[in-house]
Amino acid sequence: MSSTHNNGRAVFNTKFGAIATTVGSAVGLGNIWRFPYEAGVHGGGAFMICYLLFVLLIGVPLLCAEFCMGRGTRSNIFGAYKKLGDGSISHIAGPLGIIASLLILSFYSVVAGWTVEYCLSSLTGGLDFSNREVGHGQFLNLTTGWRPLLWTVVFLIANFTILISGVTKGIERASNILMPLLFLLLVAFCVNSFFLPGFEEGMKFLFTPDFSKITSGVLLGAMGQAFFSLSLGLGCMMTYASYFSSKNKLGKTAATTALLDSAVAILAGVIIFPAVFSFDLSPEAGPTLVFEVLPYIFNQLPGGMIWSTLFFLLLFLASLTSTVSMSEISITYFCEEKKMKRKGATILSSAIALVGGLLCALSFGALSDFTIFGMTIFNLFDYLSSNICLPIGGFICSLFVGWWVDKKFIKDQLTDYGKYKFPLLGLFRFCVRWLCPVAIFIIFLNSIGIV
Ligand code: TRP
Repeated sequence: MSSTHNNGRAVFNTKFGAIATTVGSAVGLGNIWRFPYEAGVHGGGAFMICYLLFVLLIGVPLLCAEFCMGRGTRSNIFGAYKKLGDGSISHIAGPLGIIASLLILSFYSVVAGWTVEYCLSSLTGGLDFSNREVGHGQFLNLTTGWRPLLWTVVFLIANFTILISGVTKGIERASNILMPLLFLLLVAFCVNSFFLPGFEEGMKFLFTPDFSKITSGVLLGAMGQAFFSLSLGLGCMMTYASYFSSKNKLGKTAATTALLDSAVAILAGVIIFPAVFSFDLSPEAGPTLVFEVLPYIFNQLPGGMIWSTLFFLLLFLASLTSTVSMSEISITYFCEEKKMKRKGATILSSAIALVGGLLCALSFGALSDFTIFGMTIFNLFDYLSSNICLPIGGFICSLFVGWWVDKKFIKDQLTDYGKYKFPLLGLFRFCVRWLCPVAIFIIFLNSIGIV
C-alpha cells in the first residue's frame, strides 16, 4: 500500500490517501443503488429522516470506534478484539464479520455486474428506453436470464485481479480522480432533475417526512442502510484504519466520510425520485429500481448514450473500490489468523463469493420462485447481512469500546496521545456506551414485535 511500514504492516502515506480510501469504501452501490430503493420501499421522507439521524448518532461514533480499534491494534477484526479484550468476543465478532462480508460481496457483485452490462449496452447503443414496453423488455433482458451470471463472474474476476496483483494502489489513484468526477456527474443529473415534470412530486416524496409512516420496518431498514453505506459493523473500517498513519485525525476522517457518503446518497435520491414520478414508474420497485429508472433519464438527454456509458463506468469503479474493501476483511483474517498466503486467501474469498453471487444472480431468473421467509436468495442475503449482521456487529463494537476497552487507549487514539484536542470526547463516550447499543437493541426488539 505504501513504502512506509509500521509493525510490519503497510501504512497509507498521506492523510488524503487515507480519507480517499475510506470514502472509496463507503461510496458505492450502497448510495446510488441501495439508498433510493430502500427509501422508495419505505415511504421516502420518513425513511430519509431516520437514515440521516442514524448516520449522525450511530454511524459517526461507530466509525470513530472502529477507527480507534483498527489503528490502535493494527489488526484485522479478529485480532483487534483479541488484542484489546479476551478471545471470546473475537470468536463472535470475527466470524460474524467474515460471514456477513462474504454474503454482501455475493449480492453486491450481481448488482455491480448489472452496471457492467448497462455500461456496455450504452456504449453499443443497445440501451433503448424510448418507451415503456421496449424499456421494460430491455430491462428484463439485461437483469434476468443467463447474462447477469456472466457479468457477476466478470465483476468478481475484476475484483480478484485487483486484490491479487497489488494494483490496489493504481485503483486508489484512479479513484481519487474518478470519484470526484462521479460526484460532478451526479450534480449535473440533479440539475437535470429540476427540469423534469415530476420534480416537485419527487422532492415531496423524498423530503417531506410523514411521521405516521415510521414503522419498525422503516427504522430497521434505515439503520441497516446507515451501516451498509458507511461500511460499518464488519470491521471493514477497522481493517482500513489499521493502515492509517498516526497523523490521521480519526474524528475528522469519520465526519468527512459520513458527510460525503450521505451527500452522494441524497444526490442519488434527488436524481431518481423526480424521474420515477415523471415517467410514471413505481418508487416501490425494490432492488431493480435504479436500473429501471435511470435509462429513461439518459434517454431524454442530448448525447444520452455518452452520459449513460460514463455514468455506469464510474459506478462500476465505485463498486470496485467498495468490494476491494469488503474482500479485505476476510482476506486479512485468513492471512493473519489462519496463516494462509495472500493468494490462497484471495482465491478462497472469491470462490465463496462466486458461489453466493451465482445463487443471487439466479434469484432474478431460474430461482425467482425459490423463497426463504418470503424472500428470494438475493433479498435474503441483503436483509440478513445489512439488517441483522451489521447492526449486531455495531452493537458488539459499541459495547466493547464503550465499556471494556481502556478509556486512555481510546483517548490516545482520538487525540494522537494528546497532540490535538478532541472536544467531543464526552459525547462520543455517551454515544458508544449508551445511545448506540440501546438504540440498536430497541430497534431490534421492535422489529421482531417485542417492544
Ligand atoms: N459501503 C459500501 C457501499 O455503500 C459497501 C461496503 C463496502 C460495505 N464495505 C462494506 C458494507 C463493509 C458493509 C460492510 O456501497
